[in-house]
Amino acid sequence: MNTYFRILSYTRPYGKFIPMYLVYTLLAIVFGLLNFTLLKPLFDVIFEQVAPESLEKFRQLPSFELSLDYALYLFNHYFLEVRDTYGKFGTLLFVCLIIVGSVFLSNLFTYLSGVVLAKVRAQVIKGMRMDIFEKVSRLHLGYFSNERKGDLLSKMTNDVQEVENTIVQSLRVVFREPATIILYFGVLFFMSVPLTLFTILIIPISGALIGGITRRLRKSAIQSQESLGRIVTILDETLGGMRVVKAFNGEAFVNDKFDRETDYYSDVNVSMARKNELAGPISQFLGVCVVAGILLYGGNLVLSGASALSASNFITYIIIFTQVLNPAKEIARAVATIQRGIASADRIFEVIDTPSQVISPEHPQPLHGFHQGITFSKVSFSYGETKVLQDINFTLEKGKTIALVGPSGGGKSTLADLVPRFYDPTEGQILLDGIDLKRISTQELRSLLGIVTQESILFNDTVYNNIAFGMDGVTEDQVMEAAKIANAHDFIVKMEHGYQSYIGDRGIKLSGGQRQRLSIARAVLKNPPILILDEATSALDSESELLVQEAITKLMSQRTTLVIAHRLSTIQHADEILVIDKARIVQRGTHAALLEQEGLYQKLSTIQSV
Ligand SMILES: Nc1ncnc2c1ncn2[C@@H]1O[C@H](COP(=O)(O)OP(=O)(O)O)[C@@H](O)[C@H]1O
Ligand SMILES: [Mg+2]
Repeated sequence: MNTYFRILSYTRPYGKFIPMYLVYTLLAIVFGLLNFTLLKPLFDVIFEQVAPESLEKFRQLPSFELSLDYALYLFNHYFLEVRDTYGKFGTLLFVCLIIVGSVFLSNLFTYLSGVVLAKVRAQVIKGMRMDIFEKVSRLHLGYFSNERKGDLLSKMTNDVQEVENTIVQSLRVVFREPATIILYFGVLFFMSVPLTLFTILIIPISGALIGGITRRLRKSAIQSQESLGRIVTILDETLGGMRVVKAFNGEAFVNDKFDRETDYYSDVNVSMARKNELAGPISQFLGVCVVAGILLYGGNLVLSGASALSASNFITYIIIFTQVLNPAKEIARAVATIQRGIASADRIFEVIDTPSQVISPEHPQPLHGFHQGITFSKVSFSYGETKVLQDINFTLEKGKTIALVGPSGGGKSTLADLVPRFYDPTEGQILLDGIDLKRISTQELRSLLGIVTQESILFNDTVYNNIAFGMDGVTEDQVMEAAKIANAHDFIVKMEHGYQSYIGDRGIKLSGGQRQRLSIARAVLKNPPILILDEATSALDSESELLVQEAITKLMSQRTTLVIAHRLSTIQHADEILVIDKARIVQRGTHAALLEQEGLYQKLSTIQSV
């Protein structure tokens, strides 16, 4: 229930639409009701039920007042006049015209209220989607290694869609259907009290039956959405890794995986549909039973003459009553969909409510640029259980370069990820100009950093926008200048649309070296005082490595750099080299000094020189 109110709370900014919606809806119901009540005089004319004298009392036009009596009186008055002037057929025409008019008005207002609702719905869904997207873009990086991407994608698309359907249903059900039922029952009571009391007894019983069936839907709804998430994950992985799938003849494997998941999904949906589909026929069947019961009871009332109920009144009564069944069914159906939507909303709110483990401080210590250096003090870190970094101590002074080397899996990338606060250390602290990173605004911290990793992260956009990503107010000249420094300008201008060429998903239309040079151009344009380079050249062939290395050397000049390299030749000039193995710094010193020592560095150097 909380979830439900939380969804509704998204409508709050659009409260101004509510009165309009209520008015339109009420008018739609009233005119809808009117055209059914008009059936009675219609039957009266056809069946010649009205004694002429009984209408004579309506001859005088009364003074205006806003009441049902006045409206009835007015109708009877004109009814009488029309009958006197145009005869029976004229009266028939008169009644039919009024019916057509009120049906038209009823539908017009239904349409208008629908439009108002659509506006609110669109805004609510937009708000929800923005909320989850914003939240996801702010969550700490660790979240994304634990959550499946497909699951997130499915939450942001299918689940939001599911909630969208729920909100429409529920807004209608919250007001329109109950109001319809109440107004219609008002008229039914007006027509016959005993008959209506009788029907009121029966309705809750059928309602409870239908409700019982639909309540059990919720669990399979969750399973269904989760399964869809896994399907999206498989799709995403397969499309992203098509090269590997083909190279390793993995088609059968992924097909099989996909087959199993889709099988499960269809099973869940069938079992859901089994219950879902039952609701319609059952309510239909029960509805007819109810009508039959009323026919029996009411027909008996008419036949026995025990009540004032006339035949035309009775037929009209039955017709109006069948109209009440529709909104009742709507409510039952909505209960089912709302539960599906709530299951989805729960999944969405779970993301929105995940606390980010890396939080920018509320009152950050202001920085004025970068002046002294970055210090790691007794830093340890673990992803979950296993220690990935243990007791790391070093200082990277402004203008200097520190290189990290060591076997793969030693913890180098993790160490580099701690600087931009992608993760926070589990123990110890990292200081920038003597201030703990946790006390600095993460935005300000990251504005000081330029990061180039082994895998260049590019977006499906133009070359230009990829270089200028995240930066405001850069000029074309600046972008071009950055591209030149990054050795990228030459290949960019050779592309079909130059800087406006699209580079495809994650830059698939470019070679590895070209992608890397775009990433470097991005870092050059940002012009940060501190650089983090994580094996920026290791994925490249030797020719593009040369070009990229040259670009990196230009980028590094005048800056403070933390560089991770697999090739020792590229870091010979580093001011200090930290050799990292199994979470610890096992050796440190300059290239020359380390070569002298017996140890890991010497070993790595020997391996690489052959
Ligand atoms: N997101 C992650 N979640 C859990 N473990 C991780 C994650 N990233 C890296 N690791 C583990 O941490 C260790 C260090 O990884 P990493 O810092 O990438 O090493 P390096 O960059 O030196 O090769 C490895 O054992 C790796 O399996
Ligand atoms: Mg690494």
